[in-house]
Amino acid sequence: MDGRDLVRSVRIFGSVRGLRAMRSAWRQRRTDAWGLRPRGPERARVPGQVEGVEPLPGGGIVRFARSELRVSVASGGTVFWGWDGAEPLPSYALAGNPPEPDPRAGLEPDKGGGWRVVSERVTVAVSRNGAVEVRTPGGVVLRRDLPPRWWEPVNGGPARWVQRSEVPADARFFGLGGRASGPRLRSGTYRLWNTDPRGSFAPGDDPLYITMPVQLVVSDAGTHLAFHDNSWDGLVTLREGEEGAGSGHDRPGASEVRVHGGPLRCWVVVGTPARVLHGWTALTGAPAQPPSWALGPQHARWGFGSEQEVRRVVAGYRERDLPLSVLHLDIDHYDRHQVFTVDKERFPDLPGLARELREEGVRLVSIVDPGVKAEPGNPVYESGAAVGPCGAFVRDGRGREVRGVVWPGECVYPDFTDPAVREWWGGLYEERLAQGFSGVWHDMNEPVSFTPFGDMTLPRSARHALEGRGGDHREAHNVYGLAMARAGYEGLRQLRPQERPFLFSRSGWAGMQRYGGTWSGDVSTGWPGLRASLSLVLGLGLCGVPYSGPDVGGFDGSPSPELFLRWFQLGAWLPLFRTHAAIDAGRREPWEFGPEVLEYARAALAERERLRPYFVTLAHLARLTGAPYARPVWWGSPEDRALRDCEDAFLLGDALLVAPVLARGTDRRAVRLPRGRWYDTATGQAYEGPGQVLLDAPMSRIPVLARAGAVIPVRGTGGAGGTGAGAAVGGAGGDGGAVELEVWAPAAGRTGGGLVVRDVGDGWARAEVERYVTRLVDGRVRVERVTSDGAAEVEKRVRVRGMGAG
Ligand code: NOJ
Repeated sequence: MDGRDLVRSVRIFGSVRGLRAMRSAWRQRRTDAWGLRPRGPERARVPGQVEGVEPLPGGGIVRFARSELRVSVASGGTVFWGWDGAEPLPSYALAGNPPEPDPRAGLEPDKGGGWRVVSERVTVAVSRNGAVEVRTPGGVVLRRDLPPRWWEPVNGGPARWVQRSEVPADARFFGLGGRASGPRLRSGTYRLWNTDPRGSFAPGDDPLYITMPVQLVVSDAGTHLAFHDNSWDGLVTLREGEEGAGSGHDRPGASEVRVHGGPLRCWVVVGTPARVLHGWTALTGAPAQPPSWALGPQHARWGFGSEQEVRRVVAGYRERDLPLSVLHLDIDHYDRHQVFTVDKERFPDLPGLARELREEGVRLVSIVDPGVKAEPGNPVYESGAAVGPCGAFVRDGRGREVRGVVWPGECVYPDFTDPAVREWWGGLYEERLAQGFSGVWHDMNEPVSFTPFGDMTLPRSARHALEGRGGDHREAHNVYGLAMARAGYEGLRQLRPQERPFLFSRSGWAGMQRYGGTWSGDVSTGWPGLRASLSLVLGLGLCGVPYSGPDVGGFDGSPSPELFLRWFQLGAWLPLFRTHAAIDAGRREPWEFGPEVLEYARAALAERERLRPYFVTLAHLARLTGAPYARPVWWGSPEDRALRDCEDAFLLGDALLVAPVLARGTDRRAVRLPRGRWYDTATGQAYEGPGQVLLDAPMSRIPVLARAGAVIPVRGTGGAGGTGAGAAVGGAGGDGGAVELEVWAPAAGRTGGGLVVRDVGDGWARAEVERYVTRLVDGRVRVERVTSDGAAEVEKRVRVRGMGAG
């Protein structure tokens, strides 16, 4: 422990909690000293030379002197390889069974004594010493994985391994979960260990709450995603390549994945960015679709503290005619911070409050922490202790409950890797529903145990069920939040089968999108934090988690009015649009920053509400295709190298390009455009991409451009659908029957179009995807709906913009 840690521990935890945390940290050390064998001497191993093969559908097994490699290509072009007998299952990431192998593909001899599998979309070549190349059908190498190396403890125990790979010199890396310094991941080392950064974080802080061994690599040769399916602690070192400016001396980009145990196996998905995300979510599961109310404006605070304060805040929105869809209650509404309880003194009638707010169109969402106060008489603790033969809580190697320290004091941790525990925990959400909550917000699930030094989590030797296989926290840590999300999601589905659950979770892992979304966590208040907010959302989207957003305004301290407004203006265009702050932070209600900020925040809220049908469409499309709502600007043009390096703007769906203001004192900013015509939605001015333009960014708004030819469903001006009385606070509810199509004129000689999916309520009804095509005919914009019966012109509820633009 260094001095900084000590000061921090005293400051943060206060004396009683600080002492408990100190005790717990020492206990953690002792537990691991007893429960983890020192590694001792190790033996290094490489695969050696190829000795033979065993063909199987879609690929086969290549045997080497000291290992074997299973290779398989699935029908869609998704590649799997695994060393030392590693197979696709079991896996926490996969949504079900692995994809069927492509029966037309198989192992065949390759030059140099190697083997290869050729399929329609991808070729995989295995060299005679165990390098694996993934090539396009045209033979261009997207990724070359060098022969791996293992270190095996002589006295037994998990083998460490390292996998080095090369990618083209021009490649850019993205992903690895939620990273504050991206979305482009520059040369450096990134850890794979879900971590609460101890207080708020800024771009230099790494790792954070969600890490994933998922790399998305974009290069001229193509885009691919590589996923090392292994949940153990590890390090990924990336080195961006260098091009020799035509000299022929390119230095390839490099990735080195170093993991402390567990299987060495990898999935590779190749194609355009859209195809890659589709393939990735086919493998790991379709993103859960939030109910449409979760696409409206949301407000939270740690420390509303009472029903009166909640009423006061909601009234503040109502009186100022500001839409509000959701209000979140943090741990201060619990009885002494204990999960699944309510402080009856400050919240005497939570169900009544929830009903009252609901009539105004405002839903309540509850925080849910995994730590359960270890105290006889606590019903959650006692019911957990009665689950199965050994209770629901994580134990150490000697069979004792592992205790940590979280908000309620000394806590135990449900072992969500046990199906019986998930079922028990999921059932507890009945209490939340009875209190009137409509959704849940999972927190502290890295999981956190406060310690003034060392790792703020459970001992590594803590035992976990791991679906019956048994193992320890080294393997379970990174999937703890994911498994908790599964428990919550499945519980809510069972309790309210007719409604789609709303859940978002601070921690998680590959595949978490099946159960819900996430948010930034405690992003620090400051301009760097604002930038980190966008990095996190874009990076997570490329890992298959499309629904997320920051604490608008930052978690701690007090943003200046300008910073708050710029954050608000960014948040309004991100999937989860929520203001939130810490208990000792300044206010985050939009009227707390003066009349000017209020006026401009109102405009951002109004635009968000107008675009709600577009957000509903994007949510449906994310479920159907894996495409994130918010995408890097290179999404449709990965070959445009300048776009690959552009980190200060994003595409919202196919139609809009949003250029937030991320620096103080800005009233004009450069915006890099992908190819094609783009309209500044504020001025109607047309610009031709690719290239860079300078656009006005006054305090009143941030630049937003619309793609020529786009069709955007918006809430019509002709009348609100939805909740009637709720219109003042809750906005107009779903998109009802009031949807209009905003159509941006296509450039002459070009066509455009878009997909529209209407709100079908908060249940499970499957919505129809409507396809529209736009073109200029005799100087007029013609909009057609295309169905299997042909195309029919649409004239009603269409509003054309951009005609006559200069
Ligand atoms: C940490 C979370 O990140 C934050 O959003 C929340 O307000 C606090 N825990 C208190 O529950």
